[in-house]
Formats: sequence, C-alpha cells, structure tokens
Amino acid sequence: MQIMGVDIGGSGIKGAPVDLDRGDLAQERHKVLTPQPATPEGVAGCVAEVVRAFSWSGPVGVTFPGVVTSGVTRSAANMDKAWVGADAAALLSRELGGGLPVTVLNDADAAGVAEMTYGAGRGRGGTVILLTLGTGIGSAVFTDGRLVPNTELGHLELKGHDAETRASVRAKEDGDLTWEHWAHRVQRYLAHVEMLFSPDLFIIGGGVSRKPEKFLPLIEGIRAEIVPAKLRNNAGIVGAAMAARAASAGKNQAGNG
Ligand code: BGC
Repeated sequence: MQIMGVDIGGSGIKGAPVDLDRGDLAQERHKVLTPQPATPEGVAGCVAEVVRAFSWSGPVGVTFPGVVTSGVTRSAANMDKAWVGADAAALLSRELGGGLPVTVLNDADAAGVAEMTYGAGRGRGGTVILLTLGTGIGSAVFTDGRLVPNTELGHLELKGHDAETRASVRAKEDGDLTWEHWAHRVQRYLAHVEMLFSPDLFIIGGGVSRKPEKFLPLIEGIRAEIVPAKLRNNAGIVGAAMAARAASAGKNQAGNG
C-alpha cells in the first residue's frame, strides 16, 4: 500500500509516495526550498507543489517542526510565527484542491513512529526516546511502542539556556564547535533527559545520524543504550505516511461502526 508523505523543514520541503509494506519511499523524493519567511500560505503552496509532482490523489501525511494537536499547529520555534494557532490540516487540504484528506503531525513524532516500526526501535519495548538533532532538537517518547505526542524535549532548560540552542546541529555550526565540544554538550543534554525519564534506549536522528562515528563514541556516562536512527533523511516522510494511513483507517472504522 502507498500513501503520500511530506516533511516540512526549515530549509526544505520534501516528499514522496511511501511503500508502507517496506517502510521506504516508493519513488525518488521531490524537494523544494522552504520559502522565507516560512508563512503558512507560502509553505502550503510548496507542499502542494511536492504532492502534484506525483499527480497524487489520496490521503497525505505532513510533518511540521512544532507542536500539532488535531491538525492545528501550536508552536513554531523555527518557522514563521503565523503558524501558531493555524488550522494547518484544513489549510493544506484546501491548497491541495479536491479536499484531499491531510493529517499533520510533529516532525520528530513522525520520525519516531517510522523508526519504531521499520528502523532502530523495531521490536523495542520499555521507554524509548528518539531525539532529532538538526536546526532544532525534536523528541518522540515511546512506552512499549506507544507514542506520547508533542513532548518537545528540545526546549528543556540546560544551564539556563533552551537546550536546542546549545546541543542542536545548528548550535554546532553557528558556534563553529569541534565534534568533541559539541559531543560534550550532547552528553550533558542526554544526561538531563535520562535523569528525567530513565529511558532504555536513545535513538539519535537528524542529519548527524549519518556520521555517528564522529560523536557517539565521545559520549560517556549515559546508562541507556544510544544508537543512530536507521531511516536517516526519510524517517519523517515515512512517519507522515503512516500517520495518514492510521487516520484514514480510523475514519473508515468510524464510518463502518
Ligand atoms: C520544535 C519541535 C520540533 C524540533 C525539530 C523544535 O524547535 O519545537 O516541535 O520537533 O524543533 O524540528
């Protein structure tokens, strides 16, 4: 079965139909640059462009880098503030024309559900925390495979600072930090999250999961196992498609019941 997944990021908006039997993209993904400022209208137009590139007409799952409840975006740390309170699902569905059903969820939650099903968290019970280290820090928390949505652990306070301003990849780049220096910050951040949640497993996602050898061996003193994400750049797209399938299955059930 295939469903369209789109990942909205601070720099790019990318998507593809996802083969949900394999948990992988069914076709090469299409990517457009995120407009600046990343307003709801501008971004919605880009999402529509990505979806149209595949002549898609069916359910669409979309990730957003902020809190999302019932299709409404509630925060926008690295996006235009006009997203706060916007009915993103309705806006995107309108923009796609024909009222295609759209499911919107947090980007890290999407990456997390994809990793738990097809990647590094497959078959793992207990408490699992996926952290995406990128422009910001996103989190997805699972207990025995069940997601607690919108956890926002990237905004925990670390030494008086918003954690993502210290330990994200953007912080590494902006501060021109060495891998050692940055890994030390990530270690402090993980220790803080571990103190609060005592997870069994940390999965580290985001672009840096492609170079785990650069920083994971430098992290010490964390009790939990730490592994890199497996689906890399496509976890968000795959998770978005999974969410859209779950939503349409739920609607069909409600319709039948
Ligand atoms: C946002 C999260 C998002 C993360 C990664 C944070 O700034 O608050 O919702 O998951 O960035 O994009």
